Order: sequence, then structure tokens, then C-alpha cells
Amino acid sequence: MGLRVMITGPTGTLGQELVRKFKRAGLPFVAASRSLERLPEGVRGLQLDYGNSLILEQAFRDVDVLFFLQPLMPGMRDEALRVIKAARASGVEFILKVSEMGASKDSPYLYQRLHGEIDDMLVHSGIPYALLKPSSYMQNFIHGYGDALLQGTLFLPEGEGRTAYVDARDVADVALEILKRPWSYEKRHLDITGERALSNAEALVLISNQIHRRISYVPITEEAAIKTWQRAGMNDFQMEVRLSLHRAIREGRTDHVSMSYQEITGRPPLSFEQFCREMKSFWIPRREGLELWP
Ligand SMILES: NC(=O)c1ccc[n+]([C@@H]2O[C@H](COP(=O)([O-])OP(=O)(O)OC[C@H]3O[C@@H](n4cnc5c(N)ncnc54)[C@H](OP(=O)(O)O)[C@@H]3O)[C@@H](O)[C@H]2O)c1
Repeated sequence: MGLRVMITGPTGTLGQELVRKFKRAGLPFVAASRSLERLPEGVRGLQLDYGNSLILEQAFRDVDVLFFLQPLMPGMRDEALRVIKAARASGVEFILKVSEMGASKDSPYLYQRLHGEIDDMLVHSGIPYALLKPSSYMQNFIHGYGDALLQGTLFLPEGEGRTAYVDARDVADVALEILKRPWSYEKRHLDITGERALSNAEALVLISNQIHRRISYVPITEEAAIKTWQRAGMNDFQMEVRLSLHRAIREGRTDHVSMSYQEITGRPPLSFEQFCREMKSFWIPRREGLELWP
């Protein structure tokens, strides 16, 4: 019998891609989700959140390898501890955890510190593991900043900082390879990035070229960003996490380019240009009566 794999976060940016790749490869898996109705047809789903240890233990009983993804949120350390303990109690044999590039318990940036602390819990849990540490996804220009781009201007407190954006589909490629042969990657901390680092201004020129419409980047202060987020009703935790993310970019901590994707898949990563070509319909405003979006 093959490995029994559980994929968590299967409806998110990375999870969706991973589910698609597992299906395409014809590999068995179970998708553990809070929202089964959002899973694609034909996917075996299991209703699960990270809130209850006993339910987690029960769910993990039939799992050999766990793909563990967790959004950034206030109680995430406690949740992660629950997940790791339940996995150990149920005999899960390997955990591939989604972390962040630069994650460390000593990081000055909150989002990296949170991941670093949880990574450490896993490292010391005794469960064989690997850590997937992607840089920011290119898809953030769709899901995160899509509305701003449709309106023509992206305001962010990132100065002229650069990021080695990675396509979430590439991160899913790496995850798939690891989940097929987890023990070959045991204890590895894998930074996954695109082929080069881009500033926001450079990224927006590439998007603008594709859609023949100019979209501009305007660097703003943290104070200005906070005011906008407060007006939008963002809570303190979300604001602190986002500020730490933008600060890391502004302070030049996200431009590192890694060769892990190439090493693991034997191919170069998708370029930002290719991403823009394939996704351009997301940045073209919908005209009345005309369905332009995919
Ligand atoms: N976005 C990036 O650029 C990026 C880059 C590197 C690393 N990461 C890391 O990837 C992780 C996911 O971040 P993301 O922004 O990419 O998230 P996302 O795509 O929006 O996915 C999050 C998924 O987590 C699941 N989930 C489980 N418990 C949840 C809860 N209590 N609240 C909300 N969702 C819950 C949800 O799936 P179900 O509804 O199916 O349960 C959701 O679809 C984070 O740890 C982040 O630090 C993100």
C-alpha cells in the first residue's frame, strides 16, 4: 500500500494547487478542510479544524504523512502544538510543514518568528519532518492586491524592497515531490523562491505590459498603512503581522534566491513574466455585460 497522505489547507492558494497536482498524478490523499463544500469534485475530504485534540488524534489515525499548513493567526502556536502532539500520539510518520522563508524564533519580524517558533516545536517533536519555506507567492498580486491593481495603484509600506516571488504552483510541485518520497528530504529546510527578486515597481511594469494599462506602485509610510487598515476594520494581530511582512521586504530580507526548486524538480522555476501572461485576465477590469474573468 502507498503512503496515506493528508493535505490540510486544501482550499487555500497553495493547497488548491497541491490538490490539483495530486489528482493529476493519480495519487491517493485525503483533504482535511473546514469547508468540504469548497473541495473540487472527486476529492476525498475530511471535515477538520485544529481546535480539538481528540478529533485530531482520531483523524490522524489513518495518516502516514501530514502536509501541515496553517494560516497566520493569533492562537497559531497553541493550535500547532495540538496538531503536533496529536500527530505523535496517532503515529503519523512524517510531517511536511509550510513555513516561511527567513522563519526563525529569533527573527525580528513577527510573521517569521511565529513560524520559527512552530518550526522549532516540530524539530523537537521527534517526528521526522521537512520544512517548506517559500518566499511570497506571485498569486498575492491576484488574491492580496487584486483590487488595488484593478484600480490602478498599489500603496504599500515596502519602500524599494525586492522579493524573490515564487509561483504557488512551483511550491506545490516541490511539496508533491517531497510527499512522494518524504524520507529523502528528512530534516531539510527548503527555501523555495522564483528565479529573481523584483521590486514592486518592476513587478507592476511587467503586469502593466501584459494588460496594456499602467498600474503604479506608491511606497507609503507604516502610519499611512495603519490608518487604511484601521478604516478597513483589520484587528491588531493582522496589522502587526502585515507590518512585519512589509518591514522585512523594505529592509531587504526577502530578496534571497534559492536553487531548491531546480534541485528538486530538475526544472527552472516559473518566471514572473509567465505568471503575468497566464493570469492577465485577473487584472483587466470587468466591463458591464462582458465576462472577461476566467
Ligand atoms: N501567501 C504567501 O505568499 C505565503 C508565502 C509563504 C508562506 N505562506 C504561509 O502559508 C500559510 C497559508 O497562508 P496563505 O495566506 O497562503 O493562506 P491561504 O492560501 O488563504 O490558505 C489558508 C487555508 O488554511 C485553512 N485553514 C485552516 N484553519 C484555518 C483557520 N482557522 N482560518 C482560516 N483558514 C484556515 C483554510 O483551508 P480550509 O478552509 O480548507 O480548512 C485556508 O484555505 C501561512 O502559514 C503563511 O505564513 C504564505
